[in-house]
Amino acid sequence: MSQTILIEPNEDLKKLYSINLHTFVGTDIIQRQNAEDTIELLKILPQVSLIITPARMNGIEVALKIHHFIKEENLETSMIVLGDCKPLVNEVTCLKEPVNWESLIRQAAQILGVSLKDSANKVRPDFIPVPVYYFYEIKKTPCDVFIRIKKGPYDYQFVKRIHSKDEFESADIKRYEDQGLKEFYVAKDYIQYFTTFVTNAIVQKLEREDLTLEDRILTTANAHEIVRDSIQVIGVDAASVELSHASINSMVKSVKNSPQVAQLLKFLFSNKISLAYQHCHMLALMCHYVLSKQSWYRQEHLETLSFVSFFSDITLKSNTQMQISTMRELAESNLTDEERQQVINHAKDAVELISSHPDANDYVKTVLIQSHGKLNGIGFEENPGEELHPLSKVFLVADAFVKILLNPAMPSSKKDILELLNLRFINPSYQKIIRALEQKFE
Ligand SMILES: [Fe+2]
Repeated sequence: MSQTILIEPNEDLKKLYSINLHTFVGTDIIQRQNAEDTIELLKILPQVSLIITPARMNGIEVALKIHHFIKEENLETSMIVLGDCKPLVNEVTCLKEPVNWESLIRQAAQILGVSLKDSANKVRPDFIPVPVYYFYEIKKTPCDVFIRIKKGPYDYQFVKRIHSKDEFESADIKRYEDQGLKEFYVAKDYIQYFTTFVTNAIVQKLEREDLTLEDRILTTANAHEIVRDSIQVIGVDAASVELSHASINSMVKSVKNSPQVAQLLKFLFSNKISLAYQHCHMLALMCHYVLSKQSWYRQEHLETLSFVSFFSDITLKSNTQMQISTMRELAESNLTDEERQQVINHAKDAVELISSHPDANDYVKTVLIQSHGKLNGIGFEENPGEELHPLSKVFLVADAFVKILLNPAMPSSKKDILELLNLRFINPSYQKIIRALEQKFE
């Protein structure tokens, strides 16, 4: 079997490419992170047939670096570059972005001398993984749903588990989860249909006036996970706009009727709500506390800050990344270089990612880009200045409060947290915001 090195930072695309390359092209996939570890591997495995890599990652010319090594060592290894790479246009196959995965598979087959016709008999329908939490708010699905069963090291079988229109209970989904299942699969042609169906079900629920506060928070938390997942994979689309709009409205509703902080935290922790949503919800609540003490406060301000807290960490992939709020914490973390870059740029990246969202007005974009105290959305400011927008200042103090509150290694009493904030945010308008929070907790 031929060997192919695959570099793909997006986890879902990595899965999609690996499965299809293996199934359709019959090549063995070796995953690598960057040019350096690819070159290290090529030194001991020079017989690798193909390398699939993005043209560049985080400003580094990955494809060029690898190509240079291949030339220097006179290797026979072919390359497929994802994205534009002018210097390599006549040397290797370059696929324009956004990359169509089917043409990637076709190109790989051609390079590796595999006839797709031959493998057509083995071809199964294309399946897209769908995390189990997509099933929390529905009782039936509009299409068949499958699970993937491993038959060999690279051989998978998709088995139908839920038939279209079958009724099921949340306990049924929980049983799968208890057995360790994280994803179901839906046939590619039905994925949009399925996502729209789930979106409609959740939006309808969130718009109900009779939801209990607990149910509202649980459903909004679930919607937050779905929006994060779908925006990270496919960007802003009609379904994620609709779902985020309903979720943010629902969050605004629930922070206005929120119980005491201690009670709310207990609820958030005991219901296994993601850290991302715990942070998002607590942050909106703290913003609400501060805003309600300001003479200039209007409802739109809470909507803006809730929108920003919903999307502020949308591009981050792990809890470790989300917990970082200073350059020092970033330096002390054990993240990879790529993960560090994602953290450093996440405010700027979030603005770019949601710029096509119709609710992302100029206030939202301003606060989002300034959400770590920098005007350009890059890095963290320990002691942010007076030049920031008043809403950004509220957001920054609230965010710092929540990050400490949710960090088990940091003080948990409100008094101790406020003291830490007082030491960190020394500019007058920030001190005023901290006093507003103090009043709320008196
Ligand atoms: Fe952030």
